[in-house]
Amino acid sequence: SAILVLHGPNLNLLGKREPGIYGADTLDAINSRLSQQAAHADVTLDCFQSNHEGALIDRVQQAGLDGTQFIIINPAAFTHTSVALRDALLAVNIPFIEVHLSNVHSRESFRHHSYLSDRAIGVICGLGPLGYELALSYALRHLRPATP
Ligand code: DQA
Repeated sequence: SAILVLHGPNLNLLGKREPGIYGADTLDAINSRLSQQAAHADVTLDCFQSNHEGALIDRVQQAGLDGTQFIIINPAAFTHTSVALRDALLAVNIPFIEVHLSNVHSRESFRHHSYLSDRAIGVICGLGPLGYELALSYALRHLRPATP
């Protein structure tokens, strides 16, 4: 697919997991809205979630071979820990946006640092599921710049 949406650990629990922080939407609901938004623009989109760092890295490496042009990633807790995920994204050299449902900067200090942000095109946090949709709007425009 042209666009890959990656979700890190525990995001499969969305809807049940700390709803006060992460909201009531399930991951399936978020992914299907993104798929619709992409289909509307005639762009193919793939969503992948894993609780395993290596599986996410394998998927990023695969993206480097399968023609993926843009990545939207919520690395969840791996944001704050994973040099390996950073290295994988740099290795494939695919532009990406980092998304967090919650405002990580208003939370514990260990969530303030990201191993990815300095290499992201942009970072969206605190806007809930809408953050993914805004990131996808950017990606679609990035892939299909408006003709003058
Ligand atoms: C998160 C924020 C991370 O700090 C946390 O570990 C998550 C989710 C978010 O979407 O707000 O699992 O990435």
